[in-house]
Amino acid sequence: MKIVKTDFILTPHKIVSGKAVAFEKNIVDIDDFETLKKKFPNATIFEYEKNSCILPGFINTHVHLEFSANRAALSYGDFLSWLYSVIKKREELVPNCDRLCIQKAIKNMLKSGTTTFGAISSYGYDLTLCAKAPQRVVYFNEVIGSNPAAADALYNDFLQRVKESKEYADEKFIPAIAIHSPYSVHRILAKKAIEFAKENDLLISTHFMESRAEREWLDKGVGDFKPFFEEFLNQSIPANRAEDYLALFEGAPSLFVHCVWANEKELEIIEKEKHTIVHCPISNRLLGNGALDIGKIKYLGINLSVATDGLSSNYSLNIYEELKAALFVHYHIEPVALAFDLIRSVTTNAAKALKINAGEIKIEKLADLQVVKLPKDLDAIEQIPLHILLHTKKPEKVFIGGESYE
Ligand code: BEZ
Ligand code: FE2
Repeated sequence: MKIVKTDFILTPHKIVSGKAVAFEKNIVDIDDFETLKKKFPNATIFEYEKNSCILPGFINTHVHLEFSANRAALSYGDFLSWLYSVIKKREELVPNCDRLCIQKAIKNMLKSGTTTFGAISSYGYDLTLCAKAPQRVVYFNEVIGSNPAAADALYNDFLQRVKESKEYADEKFIPAIAIHSPYSVHRILAKKAIEFAKENDLLISTHFMESRAEREWLDKGVGDFKPFFEEFLNQSIPANRAEDYLALFEGAPSLFVHCVWANEKELEIIEKEKHTIVHCPISNRLLGNGALDIGKIKYLGINLSVATDGLSSNYSLNIYEELKAALFVHYHIEPVALAFDLIRSVTTNAAKALKINAGEIKIEKLADLQVVKLPKDLDAIEQIPLHILLHTKKPEKVFIGGESYE
């Protein structure tokens, strides 16, 4: 048994003062420190200084580890320019990220309080490292390919990767699938992969309506994607209609990444089908895609999860950076309320999206936790969520399934 005593607990639904948390793999009790010490006399005690706060570990639902070698190789500012640069550079970027590079990315996430991540795997090169990561991992084997002639080969390669990942499945490593996007995956391939996921009860993630170009191409077959598909892939019509693509996910609550350009009707379907929108504000900013209207997402009652995306469209996998960025991108929302919502987006909301029993300080939840230090002069307790975001670069301590990490 371990007992953590901090001044505050952010559950993250409310801020609690003067209580401690006792846990093994799961949270066992939340009570006065003295009461817990009497109840569990052999427990290991972790006692923190003034203005410390314990909160759930963060859950980053969307990262591409295989692209972690990128620093400044890719072109930012415009989505199509970025996509062209990814295609041009991926043959060097992906091999440049060797095992050490992937391990470093996983370690950086751990040090910055990420206790679960959703890894989008394009090639399977990150499989064994994700399988033995300290964190809980949902491993999304990705399928891509808009050319129907290649669909069978791509599907078989995808199935092979899913099969391999299933060999590592355990309590902390959960195989899943990703359909890259409606513009890049042929409808027959998308349908087969989604049916497979439904039959095998696997979670699904997809990029959706990330750019204006995607909106225009899928709706009208025009815009920046037209020359891309014509010249590059010899295709004159889109691989999917957005409406048909969304309908494939019916009955399988999934993760829809970006959705900056999703329309009202699509958002209503996303809400009705209990999908989650994954919001990556830094990636959206850097690729020239604009900002998601998170006020509307909240109004519609859609589950929102903030994530970093990969180092192919971000400078850091530290989710505290992403939350800080979100705080300033969404400048019209009152900052304390926004900070509260943002912390819930990477804890309870993300846990719901990934179907894991974590993301909340509550008896029986998994003990995936972090301790942060707040400034000594903290005055307004109700502003703790905002100060956590403003003053934390990395937590003091991380626990995953009750195991302690520095
Ligand atoms: C494809 O493989 O068909 C594809 C990849 C990236 C963007 C668009 C299409
Ligand atoms: Fe992504």
